[in-house]
Amino acid sequence: MEPTEMDEKILFWQDKGKLVPTRNLIRTQEQIEGIRRAGVLNTAVLDTVAEHIREGMSTLEIDRLVYEYTTRNGGIPAPLNYEGFPNSCCTSLNDVVCHGIPSERDVLEEGDIINVDCTTILDGYYADASRMFVIGKTEPAWQRVVDVAWECLKIGEKACDHPYVFVGDMGNAIAQHAHANGCTVVRDYCGHGVGVKFHEEPDIEHYGKKGTGMLLVPGMTFTIEPMINAGDYDVCGDEEDETGWVVLTEDGEISAQWEHTYLMTENGVEILSH
Ligand code: MF3
Ligand code: CO
Ligand code: CO
Repeated sequence: MEPTEMDEKILFWQDKGKLVPTRNLIRTQEQIEGIRRAGVLNTAVLDTVAEHIREGMSTLEIDRLVYEYTTRNGGIPAPLNYEGFPNSCCTSLNDVVCHGIPSERDVLEEGDIINVDCTTILDGYYADASRMFVIGKTEPAWQRVVDVAWECLKIGEKACDHPYVFVGDMGNAIAQHAHANGCTVVRDYCGHGVGVKFHEEPDIEHYGKKGTGMLLVPGMTFTIEPMINAGDYDVCGDEEDETGWVVLTEDGEISAQWEHTYLMTENGVEILSH
């Protein structure tokens, strides 16, 4: 078989010592259609959360909503029993950076900011997205962090408006925007390939140097999901969390995150779930 233009570009960068995708990270048409369908359902799950989330609701009620909607529509919530995770989604409130565990005890109050992170398996394919929700009105400084995190995601997306960019090109752009706004970027957690499994190669770091990290070529599916802190980027575990999942900011300041699943195409990224 003749090498395609894509094969040639991959070989070109590989010869220059760059990290390039292996064949399995480039999805077939059939896989893309499957991941696309999982993405549509996952977006609908988050739309349902958006419709119902309100002051006075516990994060466990959000979890039930996610479980019911997902399973009623033929999907499986990927977090449930994933490496021992006990629930169907992650609910990360205020100073929780990620992997917050839904609980009856966490009741939403006016001014809270919360990330709800949902991943759906449909016919064996995965899509992963999260959104921030502000309960009522929050203080301007908190709202600003929520907005900066959204802007960081969109700036990362913009850096991927054509194929054959590097993960580090995107991460660099994201970190610059966060820092210009007095925020920091979490370093201990990153985005990831997604689609055939929950977490695949490549790591999508939201900071770093241009030209580093993996080359992104058409057919790859991955998340961008910057975790943006108001204070320092250091994180720690929650001592009261016996499961060991919950990640907090070390300094107790707030953190915000948005996540989409993307497909890289010949014309840049297409959103598969938001
Ligand atoms: N959805 C998270 C991500 O964006 C991963 C959560 S793992 C879980 O990668 F087990 F906590 F659900
Ligand atoms: Co993810
Ligand atoms: Co996620």
